[in-house]
Amino acid sequence: MEQKLLSQLSQEARAALYNETKAAYDAFAAQKLQLNMARGNPSPEQLALTMPMMNTLSADDSLISETGADCRNYGVPGGILEVRTLFADLLGVPADEVFAAGNSSLQLMFNCFQIAYVHGIAGCTPWSQLDNVKFLCPVPGYDRHFAVANYFGFEMIPIPMLADGPDMDMVAKYVESDESVKGIWCVPIYANPTGVVFSDAVVRRFASLKPAAQDFRIFWDNAYFLHHIVENPVTPLRITDACKEFGSEDMVYQFVSTSKVTFAGAGIAAVTMSKANLAQFSRDMGIQTIGFDKINQLRHARFFGNAEGVKEHMKLHAAILKPKFDVVIELLEQELKPLGLGTWSAPQGGYFISYQAPNGCAKRIVQLCKDAGVTLTPAGATYPGGKDPDDSNIRIAPTYPSVDVLRKTMELFCLCVKLAALEKIES
Ligand SMILES: Cc1ncc(COP(=O)(O)O)c(C=O)c1O
Repeated sequence: MEQKLLSQLSQEARAALYNETKAAYDAFAAQKLQLNMARGNPSPEQLALTMPMMNTLSADDSLISETGADCRNYGVPGGILEVRTLFADLLGVPADEVFAAGNSSLQLMFNCFQIAYVHGIAGCTPWSQLDNVKFLCPVPGYDRHFAVANYFGFEMIPIPMLADGPDMDMVAKYVESDESVKGIWCVPIYANPTGVVFSDAVVRRFASLKPAAQDFRIFWDNAYFLHHIVENPVTPLRITDACKEFGSEDMVYQFVSTSKVTFAGAGIAAVTMSKANLAQFSRDMGIQTIGFDKINQLRHARFFGNAEGVKEHMKLHAAILKPKFDVVIELLEQELKPLGLGTWSAPQGGYFISYQAPNGCAKRIVQLCKDAGVTLTPAGATYPGGKDPDDSNIRIAPTYPSVDVLRKTMELFCLCVKLAALEKIES
């Protein structure tokens, strides 16, 4: 018999489904699971892929970089040439537009805010001296981006994320008419959490923006540019190339890191920016530090050798991650699709699957999961201020658990969606 959509079931059929689902849920809860899928962490198997990197340097090795810098000593604040060249080749930018730092790209984003806030950029008034600073936030988006804007007390304006990137008509309207709009967050490939890949047209529209504020910056967080799980993925036009077309190179800061390439706690982060921007950034960063961990930079450069080495390494990650994404999609398709319960992304890479629950159900689903031992990213976290107006988006982070655990977790997740949706109908 063909399964009917939940909304088409009779009251008796709904009651029967509720009882059956609740019994299965109670059986899960009785197992007292303790699983955490709240954050997109690499799994132990993925981290193991990089363990040979620990053997690339030994006490007998010369820790002298190719330009002669002693990596054990102070200096070279923008990173050793080997590692800047590695990022430059991967990103298609010149090595002298790359600043390679410590392990966290999020910290570099924070640094960019801080410099604009305290001293101002491009000769403009520091953001701290303005009555109102606005940041555009494509939603659903990355909670830590919103946390940075919130930390500085900026107003966050949600911008709907469409299938090919943020709503560019809305972006252009704000950016080109309002001088208090100072920036926008972007994750151009496999956006967190939607998995959206920006189309070339969207990238070009970004590059062609004519901001009202001279110190408006696009925070181009290219966190997942290497993280494909399929062969021949669709990748966006490079923003740096598009900006060259329009002469808007100063408008973009691009961030990357190897947090999900090597070690999430001990990778290398970098920012790429125009030479004019980099001159100020380097000067201001030089107040904070005399130099980052160059031994770790050297370790990375020697482990990978070149950009091809990084791409090969990412194929090993893909082989681990693809089955995990598959099992999540399989269960959503099998359990929820026939009932018409929600929609979801099926990304070609990145770290997340975005689930849109029936409106008004996300918080309840996350709570039901928690009560049965599975912690998910809090509902609402993907919106500024934690406020999802539809109470619908849930970020599923499938990378850390094993495939078996993930299957179990997703079985529970689907039960929770059914219960929440049934409760909603009855109320
Ligand atoms: C979009 C995005 N940017 C940045 C980060 C954090 O990057 P990093 O480890 O380089 O600070 C994450 C981590 O999940 C992320 O999803």
